[in-house]
Amino acid sequence: MIYLDNAATTFQKPPAVQRTLCEAMRRYGANAGRGGHKLSIAASEMVYKAGEAVAELFGIQDPANIAFTLNTTMALNMAIKGVLLKGGHVIITSMEHNSVARPVVRVAKNRYTVVRANRQGIVNPADVEAAIQDDTRLIVCNHASNVCGSIQDISEIGRIASGHGILFLVDVAQSGGVLPINVEKQHIDLLAFAGHKSLMGPQGTGGLYVREGLELDTILEGGTGSQSESLSQPINMPDRLMSGTVNMPAIAALGEGIRFVRKLGVGAIAAHEMKLAGRLMEGFGNIEGVTVYGPESVKNRVGVVSINIDGLDSITVSQILDQDFGICVRSGLHCAPLAHETIGTLENGTVRFSVGYYNTQSDVDRALTAVSKIKKGKYV
Ligand SMILES: Cc1ncc(COP(=O)(O)O)c(C=O)c1O
Repeated sequence: MIYLDNAATTFQKPPAVQRTLCEAMRRYGANAGRGGHKLSIAASEMVYKAGEAVAELFGIQDPANIAFTLNTTMALNMAIKGVLLKGGHVIITSMEHNSVARPVVRVAKNRYTVVRANRQGIVNPADVEAAIQDDTRLIVCNHASNVCGSIQDISEIGRIASGHGILFLVDVAQSGGVLPINVEKQHIDLLAFAGHKSLMGPQGTGGLYVREGLELDTILEGGTGSQSESLSQPINMPDRLMSGTVNMPAIAALGEGIRFVRKLGVGAIAAHEMKLAGRLMEGFGNIEGVTVYGPESVKNRVGVVSINIDGLDSITVSQILDQDFGICVRSGLHCAPLAHETIGTLENGTVRFSVGYYNTQSDVDRALTAVSKIKKGKYV
């Protein structure tokens, strides 16, 4: 079996991550932050250490400003609604995932602007600046597209947002662990990340960084193990955004995943994935009747390569790849219809190959051979 669906979630996790998950359940499986006994304190320490790992990776000064969530979607909802529940205009890009578009449409009603990317999926920061209105409170942008891998210039968009005193929320679901990210240098006020993709953690992990002093409205209130005498949600982070029992074993394992990434180096992981993505792009480009979407240069993308084969719908192609070649990819709209509209694939979606750290050149070559055979109809 060849797994090329890393943009959805990474399947192969480092052995240390698997070990930490099991050990956390066996040795510290108490409720983090909910007791003064040794096991609860040990569980809290595991969560705190994971926060430190996130902070080190993203240049965050105080790990307390990170709330762990179940996934990126939850983090994005907390950030978007936390800023916009009191009203105001918001700018998003046409490359956003539905985890941005849907909460924005619901909470901002008609007070939102979608800035269109070009056909390669790249947003011009000047277009973002031109969309700013008097009451714009938030700009939301993903760092890298889950549809065609295009990378946005978040440093420049962050500079623009900060210059206009507008909050900047970045969705790093596809870039965390493969592109350098620094919340201070890139003027990021809110950062939503996935734990279960390139940060190598288990499913059910993600998080939201909130800039010091920024007080979000809450969409979830409850027990935090702190200030229990008060019937109001605490103001201090991370308790403000972390109600209820956390998935401590998974968060502890995510911490281990991030330490793995930092040990290898984000640059080294990116180099490996770029090499594989480049090989895929070149190979697909040489098969007649195959269209490759997204930036022409591999330098402007993460390890996501979306294609279509003339005359075949994307779902059929992914089914053939799975059933006849043992290759796992994703097809369809990838929960991002605005992005497909932008690159011209709304009708058929795309067949998405997404590489990860554990993929090899041979995986990529087998995918290329499979697509070539499917194009020629020689796969049964
Ligand atoms: C760019 C982007 N944003 C948000 C999400 C949602 O992530 P999650 O599944 O962690 O909620 C995804 C998922 O693939 C994504 O690619």
